[in-house]
Amino acid sequence: MCGIFGCILRRGLAAPLIHKGLKRLEYRGYDSVGVATLDGGVLHIRKDAGKIDEVAERLSFDEMPGAVGVGHTRWATHGAPTMVNAHPHVDCGGVVAVVHNGVIENFQELRRELEEGGHRFVSKTDTEVIPHLIEEELKKGAQPREALLRAVRRLRGSYAIAVLFASDPEHIYCARNESPLIIGLSEDGAYCASDIPAMLPYTRMVAWLRNGEAAILSAGGYEIIRISDGSRVDRPLTEISWSLKMAERQGYPHFMLKEIYEQPQSLRNALRLQKTYLDLLAAFLDRGREIFLVAAGTSYHACLAASYMFSKLARLTTYPVIASEFIERYGSSIGIDSVILAVSQSGETYDTLKAVEYARMRAATILGVTNTVGSTLTRVSRAYIVQQSGPEIGVAATKTFTAQLLVLAQLALRLARMRGKISQDEIDEFQEKLLEIPSIVEEVLNRSASRVEELAEKYKDEKLFLFLGRGISSATALEGRLKLLEITYIPSLAYPAGESKHGPISIVEEDVPCIFLCPRGETRRDIVGSIMEMKARGAKIITLCEEGDEEVKELSDDYIEMPKGIPELLSPIPYVVPLQLLAYHIAVKRGLDPDKPRNLAKSVTVP
Ligand code: AGP
Repeated sequence: MCGIFGCILRRGLAAPLIHKGLKRLEYRGYDSVGVATLDGGVLHIRKDAGKIDEVAERLSFDEMPGAVGVGHTRWATHGAPTMVNAHPHVDCGGVVAVVHNGVIENFQELRRELEEGGHRFVSKTDTEVIPHLIEEELKKGAQPREALLRAVRRLRGSYAIAVLFASDPEHIYCARNESPLIIGLSEDGAYCASDIPAMLPYTRMVAWLRNGEAAILSAGGYEIIRISDGSRVDRPLTEISWSLKMAERQGYPHFMLKEIYEQPQSLRNALRLQKTYLDLLAAFLDRGREIFLVAAGTSYHACLAASYMFSKLARLTTYPVIASEFIERYGSSIGIDSVILAVSQSGETYDTLKAVEYARMRAATILGVTNTVGSTLTRVSRAYIVQQSGPEIGVAATKTFTAQLLVLAQLALRLARMRGKISQDEIDEFQEKLLEIPSIVEEVLNRSASRVEELAEKYKDEKLFLFLGRGISSATALEGRLKLLEITYIPSLAYPAGESKHGPISIVEEDVPCIFLCPRGETRRDIVGSIMEMKARGAKIITLCEEGDEEVKELSDDYIEMPKGIPELLSPIPYVVPLQLLAYHIAVKRGLDPDKPRNLAKSVTVP
């Protein structure tokens, strides 16, 4: 997730507005920043790694000449946060400047083709193919509008782009597929931005571009066209009534809720991983004598779930370990044959890095899954995957957890294929379901939101909760409980359901709410027995069960129905979503701020 802001003014300098606009998009990314302006048919570009204000001051953004320009604040996905990788990117002739938010899936093949055709690339980004594709079309004689359309028709993946042509200082060209882009108009000019907050100081009259659309902005107006055939789209502007605070959260009252609702998109991004990196990680995992999945908090829960995936799909035994326990527990056996797969959203968690450093010193192979390009974890890993969820502001991890799970599921499937442990049919079937996960999560959000809110109202004053699941659902239970615990402060326990009778059941008395995860699959039969045990002791039974599972529904005091046909191994992704919402709504109903839980920091970088 990156931020784009562009403007074309009737008079005055564009750059100071771009600087301010980017500042309001800083939550979308902040590892590097850049601006391109056009003046007298000449492109001016200033960019560097670093925070917006610091780079803007150092490179005097506000003094850049020209009434038209585009800017970008970056959250690295391809290529480290460096000056060269910062946007805008240009073609060989330096006459086309592009800023981009999204991921171009086929950039490697496009880059190869363009390089063979003589184009010179300087960055490691996927974005750089876009100005070169446009340049190629200009060379064939196309005008900017046609060159843009032809170029973006070749892109696969997600993009919101804003483009300047040195030959056409009267216009900014934009296009979008899956990444957000808004255009706006005022008396003073026209604007484009990734998000509403950047627009608000200049205009409240905006239009959203939809997938497959391009827009051409001039100082006095805009035109929206379809990328497929260049035909015109009539879309009037709408007035935005949100306050700035509301706008930063896209109308959501809290970042946590916004991020919960971003999950269909972050999961789509997680499906766009470069297959070569998945293969590389899978090959290292395959070679290891012992594999440790090391992480903290929510990321540890993702590792726990992944250990079931690796075992069931790839027949590979892995050891999920809480990072702060790793050295004490396994340190003495770590050596050159050990593989450590470290999972960390921030890539900066002290305990995880300490475990990694320890293992590295003993010549173990370090692999990483993170959301942060350029983080310490990416620097110390032999190979790593970036999950591409964009920045997460809420302290409680939500969208980054489900994306971690989807990355790890893809990795397990690659490994299964590589090791030949399951049949082609099973692989194909699982792959198909993987691709459906973003839509399934969308459906869960649509279907369960109001039901979860009702349950939050009903149970908001409880003093204790139990979360129980079997198999991979025990990881879902732990994560659901962590969400509730960290933002509502309600004491709660989570256990593999089979373990509950070995102790935890002693705290169950009349009306204690017990949340059971009951996806269809191998554990479904046994979970019914666990429900009965709790029911017999007077617990209130709340279940997440598959639509039409009458047996579980009848045993429940309350239930949330989940879509049919979700494989048990993927169930933690959709099943955790109602639990995230439940924690969120209970926190709000108890008058707490879910974005700022007490005593917690987003990234724990201290011992
Ligand atoms: C999750 O809601 C927490 N905020 C916390 O447990 C977090 O997952 C943990 O600190 C690990 O962070 P990391 O993924 O950045 O390493």
